[in-house]
Amino acid sequence: MFGFYPYLLPFCDVELIHPSKRFDMTNSATAQATINIPVGPAGRAMAEPMSGEMLDLMQAHLNLERQSAAGYFAAAIWFAERELVGFAEHLRDEAKQEEQHAAKFADYLISRGQRPVLDTVEPPRQQWPDVEQVIANVFRMEADVTASVLQLYGTAEHDLDRRTSVFLDPIVDDQRLSEHEAAYLLGRVKFAAATLLP
Ligand SMILES: [Fe+2]
Repeated sequence: MFGFYPYLLPFCDVELIHPSKRFDMTNSATAQATINIPVGPAGRAMAEPMSGEMLDLMQAHLNLERQSAAGYFAAAIWFAERELVGFAEHLRDEAKQEEQHAAKFADYLISRGQRPVLDTVEPPRQQWPDVEQVIANVFRMEADVTASVLQLYGTAEHDLDRRTSVFLDPIVDDQRLSEHEAAYLLGRVKFAAATLLP
């Protein structure tokens, strides 16, 4: 039943005890052995440490998501000021989603025994000459976030950090969809500008 057990050992930082021995209370040495669990900077149990590079990139990405939320909010305000409430509402929702993405990364860092560090959110750009430029900025923001996620992905692969690879898998595809949506919106806006405006 536990034939796979020896293959797990090289991948575990925490000392693994074979189940048949773990529950063998007839052996007094086993019964009294202290279990030492490594902890992260927050004092939380940590199964596998993250590389320093991975941690720095994760912290930077968390803050990029917050910066991106501010960027979407600025775009929402630009539209609200011009009575384009549909656009404003859509972009406000996007801003909320970016905050949720940031929270997801913070939760992930906590789950890995790390302490999320919040950086300063810079004032976002708030002025654009026209609708097309606002949406072009949105597209570029999404592409930048994707680039950051892919950098995380590459580092996770390099580090053989499988937990992070699995965590990032759905996020990479969500980013592709976000770029797709922004490209769609940009295409519609360009088409409208070319055909409806004099
Ligand atoms: Fe995001």
